[in-house]
Amino acid sequence: MQNLLALLYLASAVLFILSLRGLSSPLTARRGNLYGMTGMALAVMTTFFVADSPVIWLIVAAIAAGAVVGAWKARTVAMTAMPELVAAMHSLVGLSAVLIAVAAVYHAGVSHSGVQKIELFIGAFIGAITFTASVIAYGKLSGKFGARAINFKGQHLLNLLLALTMLGFGMAYFFTDSQAAFLMMVAIALALGVTLIIPIGGADMPVVVSMLNSYSGWAAAGIGFTLENPVLIIAGACVGASGAILSYIMCKAMNRSIVSVLLGGFGAEAATAGPAGSAQKNYRSGSADDAAFLMENAEKVIIIPGYGLAVSRAQHALQELTDLLTERGVDVRYAIHPVAGRMPGHMNVLLAEAEVPYDKVFEMEEINSEFGTADVALVIGANDVVNPAAKNDPASPIYGMPILDAYKARTVMVVKRSMNAGYAGLDNDLFYMDRTMMVFGDAKKVVEEMLQAVH
Ligand code: TAP
Repeated sequence: MQNLLALLYLASAVLFILSLRGLSSPLTARRGNLYGMTGMALAVMTTFFVADSPVIWLIVAAIAAGAVVGAWKARTVAMTAMPELVAAMHSLVGLSAVLIAVAAVYHAGVSHSGVQKIELFIGAFIGAITFTASVIAYGKLSGKFGARAINFKGQHLLNLLLALTMLGFGMAYFFTDSQAAFLMMVAIALALGVTLIIPIGGADMPVVVSMLNSYSGWAAAGIGFTLENPVLIIAGACVGASGAILSYIMCKAMNRSIVSVLLGGFGAEAATAGPAGSAQKNYRSGSADDAAFLMENAEKVIIIPGYGLAVSRAQHALQELTDLLTERGVDVRYAIHPVAGRMPGHMNVLLAEAEVPYDKVFEMEEINSEFGTADVALVIGANDVVNPAAKNDPASPIYGMPILDAYKARTVMVVKRSMNAGYAGLDNDLFYMDRTMMVFGDAKKVVEEMLQAVH
């Protein structure tokens, strides 16, 4: 029996790894999801047989409740609200790691070895930090609470003191087996989760969510050791490592160091900067009809989707427009910036949903050299990812961030509702260039008008 259970766990671990592999490309993402779901179902079922005397009804009730809430959320969540949903889910992973660790410490008649105590300590403190930090991240991302970055003097010193005290209680637990010391350690870790996250501004939150994702994975892996559950260790390590890699990729794409993200302040600074000087500068605006006319007569159009496209759900209309233009012999391509939108892969998911062919969608490195030969760069609801200040203004907070070179196109058209700034809160010189035409309005409405004009 033990061998069979080990084999089933191994199978689900392999499925998790295949799932990650599948999720690395939009072409195989559905299959990847399927592997992940199968692996998880297998792991959950196997766990029923691992436990000595499981209270079946309690576990089934919990799974049923989770399934109902999960299915409802999955059906109703808006694509733009995904980051906060992910944050909320990480908080639950953190909380369960804490609860399992506390239950293990309070398990009557069970004594833990030194190594197990260290595992419990790691699982519990990472879980606790993940829990409270994810709750605040959820509040910040959804705009419900804590949106403002809070900075005060001595903040880092406070964090250091909290971390040292937490470590002190952890050691007290290690040497004395004191359950009270363990609880104190958890309580301080919960507080640390809050103090670590409050100084981080909105613009950096997606990176933080991805880091919390990573933490929740390590917490799960730590608890996996305590429970001697190999699949939890493997799944936790996969989540931990992939979250860490993703955070690194995002930081690189935003030209931020992980340390500066964690020390906080960026979003706050930038948000107060505002679109400085935009009132004095001149810009040119045109109608959707003008834009459609230019595109119909172009040879090559590169579309740059951004956050505004996601908010207005313009992707389907955009795909129709692409089809029509392609029929007319225009070469239409999509250029995707790694941090366009609000979460990794945001634009790819939207375009896949609208069934844009994958061979029309290009990553930044693949397409940047083509803007010079494009007749039109059509920027839809994007802003920071095409801001030339990232290239030519060393004083800009986003200086050094790689951008899509839309400014090199013969004509640039920018669809957005106003001259307001994007996520980083910065003005954008692209909007004031001679060859730029602003097309004001909600992205979906404007694209539908373009569609009518081309028909
Ligand atoms: P943003 O720079 O945020 O610009 C989006 C623009 O869309 C805004 O300027 C807004 O202008 C416009 N907009 C909003 N709603 C609209 C609507 N209904 N119709 C038309 N336009 C609308 O977006 P981006 O260029 O995609 O850049 C993403 C930003 O998020 C970057 O700063 C990036 O660093 C940050 N970020 C992204 C990620 C990931 S992983 N994606 C992670 C961390 C941070 P109006 O208000 O004038 O309409």
